[in-house]
Amino acid sequence: MSEKALIDELRDRVRRSPLPRHVAIIMDGNGRWAELRGLPRLEGHRAGSEAVRAVTREARSLGVEALTLYAFSAQNWARPDEEVGGLMQLLAEYLDSERAEIMDNAIRLEAVGDLDRLPSFVRERLERLRADSRGNGGMALTLALSYGGREEIVQAAQRLARRGGGPEGITEEALERELWTSDARLPPLDLLVRTSGERRISNFLLWQCAYAELSFSDILWPDFRELALLQAVGDFQTRERRFGLTGAQLAEGARGP
Ligand code: FPP
Repeated sequence: MSEKALIDELRDRVRRSPLPRHVAIIMDGNGRWAELRGLPRLEGHRAGSEAVRAVTREARSLGVEALTLYAFSAQNWARPDEEVGGLMQLLAEYLDSERAEIMDNAIRLEAVGDLDRLPSFVRERLERLRADSRGNGGMALTLALSYGGREEIVQAAQRLARRGGGPEGITEEALERELWTSDARLPPLDLLVRTSGERRISNFLLWQCAYAELSFSDILWPDFRELALLQAVGDFQTRERRFGLTGAQLAEGARGP
């Protein structure tokens, strides 16, 4: 069977079962992809941008409500200046080149992370597209930039403390409301995918992962395209999500948190 026929068949199958509302991806393996080809690491990130385009299109056309991509972690600032600068440049190019597709397809662009650390040429483009796409009713595409899960929880706790509600004001719901993902108005995370064979969370969406299904792919991110996304979604659809309940309770119609 050709790859196209395989994709079409899998897409049809995946569409017949409930989809994850919110998919997040740790896009790992750009550096190794480049090294395997004797190319500079930045070429791996450039090829990774193409995978971002393909996967975003597929997720949107499937009907996924939210796609969140780990594009630059709080810890990535410590990479060599040349790589950090190149990634910032790529992000700016991406925001320019994808503007039309985002607006034409009613995608709402969001961002989570310590965005004040981004250079102004990235932040300004990001804020402009975020503002322009705010009213779009299609898929939410969220870029996690200068993002860390621990950092997100710490800043949420600080915001909550500033509100002055005292210890009783600290509840799960109240803390969750202060997370960056709440500002971005995202549904609960259903599926977290990590590429490149690594099996770690690496400080991504730590709070939101509580009941997410995890899917690990050996494919390096630049090679992760429609088929790989459909396989991850298909894998998700085989899982029984119990949310702490028993299988028998679920069969009786009980629902978890
Ligand atoms: C991890 O691979 C990837 C990153 C740190 C950056 C991800 C960036 C992109 C996919 C491209 C730009 C993003 C957008 C949204 C246009 P790695 O470099 O750690 O790979 P390695 O583990 O093989 O070294």
